[in-house]
Amino acid sequence: MELKAPTQAIPYSLLALISSNDKLKSSVKVVPQPDATEPVLTVNDKTLITGTASVARYLIRSQQLFDEQLPEAQAEARLLDRVLSGEKLQAQSALLAALAWDGQSSSAPNPDAVALVEALSAKPSLPAVESIPEVEGSSPAFNVADCFKNLIATQLASIADIPAATIYAAIDLPRSLEHGDYAVALPRLRVKGNPAAIAAEWAKAFKPNDHITEAKAIGPFLNFRINPDILVRRTLSMVSKYDKKYGSNKDGEGKTVIVEFSSPNIAKPFHAGHLRSTIIGSFLRNAYEANGWKVIAMNYLGDWGKQYGLLAVGYSRFGDEEKLLNDPIKHLYDVYVAVNRQAEEEPTIHDEARAYFKRMEDGDEEALSLWRRFRELSIRKYKEVYGRLNIHFDVYWGESQVGDGMQRAMDQLVNDGLLQDSDGAKIIDLSEYKLGKTVVQKRDGTTLYLTRDIGGALERYEKYNFDKLVYVVASQQDLHFKQLFKTLELLKAPFADKVEHINFGLVQGMSTRKGTVVFLEDILDEARDVMHEVMRKNEKKYAEVENPEKVADEIGLSGVKIQDNSARRVKNYEFDRNRMFSFEGDTGPYIQYAHARLASIERKSGLQVNHNADLSLLTEPGAVDICRTVAQYPDVVKSILNGCEPCNVVTYAFKLAHDISGVFDQLWVRGAEPAVADARLLMYWSARVTLGNAMRLLNLDPLERM
Ligand code: ARG
Repeated sequence: MELKAPTQAIPYSLLALISSNDKLKSSVKVVPQPDATEPVLTVNDKTLITGTASVARYLIRSQQLFDEQLPEAQAEARLLDRVLSGEKLQAQSALLAALAWDGQSSSAPNPDAVALVEALSAKPSLPAVESIPEVEGSSPAFNVADCFKNLIATQLASIADIPAATIYAAIDLPRSLEHGDYAVALPRLRVKGNPAAIAAEWAKAFKPNDHITEAKAIGPFLNFRINPDILVRRTLSMVSKYDKKYGSNKDGEGKTVIVEFSSPNIAKPFHAGHLRSTIIGSFLRNAYEANGWKVIAMNYLGDWGKQYGLLAVGYSRFGDEEKLLNDPIKHLYDVYVAVNRQAEEEPTIHDEARAYFKRMEDGDEEALSLWRRFRELSIRKYKEVYGRLNIHFDVYWGESQVGDGMQRAMDQLVNDGLLQDSDGAKIIDLSEYKLGKTVVQKRDGTTLYLTRDIGGALERYEKYNFDKLVYVVASQQDLHFKQLFKTLELLKAPFADKVEHINFGLVQGMSTRKGTVVFLEDILDEARDVMHEVMRKNEKKYAEVENPEKVADEIGLSGVKIQDNSARRVKNYEFDRNRMFSFEGDTGPYIQYAHARLASIERKSGLQVNHNADLSLLTEPGAVDICRTVAQYPDVVKSILNGCEPCNVVTYAFKLAHDISGVFDQLWVRGAEPAVADARLLMYWSARVTLGNAMRLLNLDPLERM
């Protein structure tokens, strides 16, 4: 290479670069040219590079490539390709080189060199998020998409004379990316006139800016294209800033929600319905939290009612202290089954049971003490299962704990003339609302499930002053909750419009290899063992996993949880062990694998994530797509609370996982040039953080190795 430079002033930085690297020093010949005004670099006798900045860039890259010890010819060929294709090159090392060179001759850095290098390294700066206009309902500070949407909404607002918030709410993702990044369907704005004509008119009036590069009408749709470079930079810097909090917002700030879920019955098996309630409920807990609410996770145990009278009668006949202590739930279940069978031949057992429960309701200490033991032993066991599922409750409550709220509700029902007598029992007639007649007090004065829920709701409101109360319970109880909510409304409870029943369908045929299961743990144990076998097959990897038993358990649990959340809640689903535990397709093990693979890219790169990486190097469509998907995550979180469908998060997580697996084999980190490696690593890291956040929302524990 020959550098033809002006005699008067050969830029210091160029000399600095050349002299800072032995290989460069020996390959670049500096030839003074009295008439030249700018340096010119000829490579292989072809004049290729002119101008101080371009020459410096070229030399910087040469230096880097030489440092990577590529053969000279190869290094040059690669450089030429790049310079000719106009790729921006990193200039950081030029600064170092210039400083190093200046350091040899004088103590102060050479100002010309510094200025030149800075000019070379300068990226157009990203406008501060604060400069993005605010629109009601948006949060550009946490949500990348809102930065773009707000710029669209505000400009369109002034063109169309429609409030920006209305337009903002109408901005959607277009059906296909070919149409653009965002779209507004004109009919949604209810403007008068021909939507296609108006769309065309507005598209014409819309002035592109640095964020929004194009507005185009397609029929009644107004489509917008955004600047991918800004998308990439904004997205990755937002993930860097919020990390595990990325995607969360503060919409619910100052509001409290009680999410009641799981709510098994003591002394009875924890069945598939309770498992679904637990999985969906803990998801909702996380979802409300991610939306800024204060959440009280409540477990409302079924621990009261005639069946505990029946259980006590059964225990007096079939009970065994030792078995009770060993495995309380299993033993009490056996007792319960036995006494029910007995009662078929001996119906008076039911009278005995009723009498026993009456004693409990009347506060008979002797009757209560046995019940209390059953309760305590059961809770202890449940807590073990919850621990394994990684689920925690803020409050353990139960039907037995409902107090005078019940009496107060009854009194008011009487006062308001809503209570009727039917053969000594008290009923509420809701047939006017097509909800039938329902008993709230039996002839012997004892209470019912519904009565306890009415009183319980009043007490919860008094104690927690909630803004929302959510019951996560199977659809089998739809009627019960309709009756409850209608009664609260008739009672004019101040929170009657703040209650919500989140229901779900049945799990059919839950079974292990051995047959139909009664106990949840059998399923979880099997899942763990199957996963453990799979892991063992790869000896090398297996040896690197720290606590294989625990990891196998987590993969198994992920299988169960993802299967449960794959379709809309109300759908019944067939329990499918083979599919659930498969590593292929959209399964729990697959999503864990995708996360672990990202973690391994980071480990194997041997690099630290550089949050200031030069993102202008991330230009491949696959990389931009990943950022686009990552940028959608805050909207996924925000929209969960309408509809409360965990499957939307599952769908999102798989989309992200698929985007990532599509580029694994093309966008290398290890072996890429340092600046490119940095940029890609930051992208993979951001994708992993986002995937991890979505997984945590679904109550999975993202694995680093498996
Ligand atoms: N324990 C009940 C059952 O297992 C579910 C309780 C639902 N919550 C409520 N507030 N009723 O069926």
